[in-house]
Amino acid sequence: NKNFKICVIKGDGIGVEVVNETLRMLKAYEKILKSVNFEFIEAKAGLTEFFNNKDAIPNETIETAKKCDAILFGAITSPKPTEIGEELNKLYKSPILTLRKELDLYSNVRPTIDYNSNIDFVIVRENTEGLYIKEEYYDEENEFAIAKRKISKKGSERIVRFAFDYAISNNRKKVSCIHKSNVLRVTDGLFLKTFEKIAKDEKYRNIIHNDYLVDATAMYIIKSPEMFDVMVTTNLFGDILSDEASALGGGLGLAPSANIGDNYALFEPVHGSAPDIAGQGIANPMATMLCCAMMLDYLKIDSKPIKNAVKRAFLEGNTTADLGGSLNTKEVTDKIIEYLTLE
Ligand code: NAD
Ligand code: IPM
Ligand code: MN
Repeated sequence: NKNFKICVIKGDGIGVEVVNETLRMLKAYEKILKSVNFEFIEAKAGLTEFFNNKDAIPNETIETAKKCDAILFGAITSPKPTEIGEELNKLYKSPILTLRKELDLYSNVRPTIDYNSNIDFVIVRENTEGLYIKEEYYDEENEFAIAKRKISKKGSERIVRFAFDYAISNNRKKVSCIHKSNVLRVTDGLFLKTFEKIAKDEKYRNIIHNDYLVDATAMYIIKSPEMFDVMVTTNLFGDILSDEASALGGGLGLAPSANIGDNYALFEPVHGSAPDIAGQGIANPMATMLCCAMMLDYLKIDSKPIKNAVKRAFLEGNTTADLGGSLNTKEVTDKIIEYLTLE
């Protein structure tokens, strides 16, 4: 048997609920597969950690993550700056942003899952720079706040290459660069220039490429989503567009993501800890199960049975309320487990 170590970070709110059910599903799948063994190694991060120890992500968690073959992450509640005092604000570090940075997970792959149509595109979001470098300051005297937005040549090159390589290995035809270079002429100008240069690489001659401004893209996603195949974009645009795109397929309950670097990979749903429904047992576990399928793809383990089982549960209406169904988290998981079969 092949043994895989999975670092499990459940987090807060529905993060805990959807990860628990996903692990139950994965254990059931392990029995069917026979040839592999998953060892779950739990690591802490989140709001409870922060309030108890003033550290939302202990070093130990990062060390554990680095020792594992992959990381499965639920969701975490980030306190709003207006909710906690100045002292705590200075100490707060977002666990997911820390992991992306520490493990250099520079690509965030966010596929749009829409089982009711042919819409099938993937957002490749740059995951380590842009406005997420968190270099912000407040000028007391003049009463303004500034945030720096970093776009590097190297950072742009590697994410654009990742998008084109992803297109080739997933049999996709087109890569679109999404940017705002009409205003951000220097930063997004560099991103677009890098895109155009790399697109000319002989390796990518069979991939069509073009670019769109991000504001128009927000409209196209709703009005003509079939025009997209692979999108590559900077950090914050990718964050916003991926939540928007999830609505095409019914919402965040069905949106998975993979954070990939050269040495590590972390899989997490696009959604957050959903405080509005946490503790009720009604969160949709499908997004996290699809993350789990992406994790198996990364580990080169057959993920088809999981993808098929989730799709079948969806098409039969065996879903939670966010997708119009009437089952709870456990009942949806039971159905998916029931539908797991090797072909
Ligand atoms: P959210 O994604 O948690 O929820 C947005 C809406 O979608 C809510 O109405 C919620 O009920 C619904 N929803 C989300 N996931 C669902 C699921 N699996 N099943 C059914 N409904 C679901 O976004 P928010 O409310 O803006 O943020 C809540 C907290 O989560 C914030 O503290 C935010 O910072 C954090 N967050 C964390 C992550 C992460 O850890 N990776 C990602 C996004 C947001
Ligand atoms: C996401 C989340 C994170 C982000 C937050 C929680 C820091 O919204 O993964 O999309 O902004 O990247
Ligand atoms: Mn987001």
